[in-house]
Amino acid sequence: MSEQQLFKVTIDNITIEVPAGTTILNAARRIGGDVTPPAMCYYSKLEGSGGKCRTCLVEVSKGSEKDPRPMPKLVASCRTTVMDGMEVKNITSPKVVDARAGVVEFLLLNHPLDCPVCDQAGECHLQDLSFEHGKSGTRYEFQRRTFPKVDLGDKIQLHMTRCILCYRCVFTANQVAEVRDHGILDRGDHAQIATFIQKNLNSDFIGNVIDVCPVGALTDKTFRFKNRVWFTKPVDAHRNCSNPKCCGEVQLWMRGDEVFRVTARKDEWGEVKEASNGNTGWICNECRFDKKDIADWTIEGPSKVNRHSVISQGHYVGLHKSNETFGAVMYGQKPQLLMDIHTISEVNKTNIELSSLDRPAHSTDFK
Ligand code: SF4
Ligand code: FES
Repeated sequence: MSEQQLFKVTIDNITIEVPAGTTILNAARRIGGDVTPPAMCYYSKLEGSGGKCRTCLVEVSKGSEKDPRPMPKLVASCRTTVMDGMEVKNITSPKVVDARAGVVEFLLLNHPLDCPVCDQAGECHLQDLSFEHGKSGTRYEFQRRTFPKVDLGDKIQLHMTRCILCYRCVFTANQVAEVRDHGILDRGDHAQIATFIQKNLNSDFIGNVIDVCPVGALTDKTFRFKNRVWFTKPVDAHRNCSNPKCCGEVQLWMRGDEVFRVTARKDEWGEVKEASNGNTGWICNECRFDKKDIADWTIEGPSKVNRHSVISQGHYVGLHKSNETFGAVMYGQKPQLLMDIHTISEVNKTNIELSSLDRPAHSTDFK
């Protein structure tokens, strides 16, 4: 068998070798960190995704070893494959940073700024993107786009004004649920997610559209307004699901012993992770919406949460705290009460250290 051809590509001055046919975005993901362009519509587990949102634009300053001319325009890194000797600029290109700010401005033209009441807040990719690239004001002076309400049933809530038309939910219905009752209707600024003739989305795996939606356009009605995600504690859990297509491996979003929400497990790019047996990590509606009792699940332990995520504020295991400087600043005086629930405080019982619990905190741990 012939060996796989490898191409050398340099992204933001870091050179790696990747198999021919790899996209710039996936090459950058291999490097990781800030070098990786953001992606609002590409989803590696969904065929045909990408090429819609333009947040992943990069500058190709050298096309290849054979043809070193730069590409005349910024290119969508999720849809452009690497060439041998290619040089790419992402965060090192002022043009890219400027273009990305423009894309964010466009995405926010009609997107309501309702993060304070949106269930996606804290895990919204558009919220992160606008935090990094957005401006505090808007230049838009017209009335924002609104839509008649579409009811998708008792499990999934659609907020069309928040949709950025990434198509991920459409691909998920086609490829994962294998039943598609919804799609994108109309064109231009009238384009919207809808079922045409009012219909409920209730096929077995359709709940996965909630996990792939990068914004709060599709949210879980069984969790809606119940809690902010950063007040809940994510734990990994599994059950023997009778549905052969469901991996049964989930994240439970808990408070004390109460399961508020069940989702699939996500990787560092916010995509549904592979299951431990190597199969896809999609979960069925029964696991997601109906199994909200702790007795339904075998708890594996607290989920690993990115330190930079707001969700990590409710996650204690492995926490690195900065040095306490209070004493130095206050000439050696000790404070009466530090609002620090990681050690012993007025909140938890004196013999309980919340940072060493390998399970969700329970009401009996507190005073
Ligand atoms: S509802 Fe969400 S997943 Fe579907 S197209 Fe809109 S933003 Fe994308
Ligand atoms: S992620 Fe590349 S265009 Fe949307």
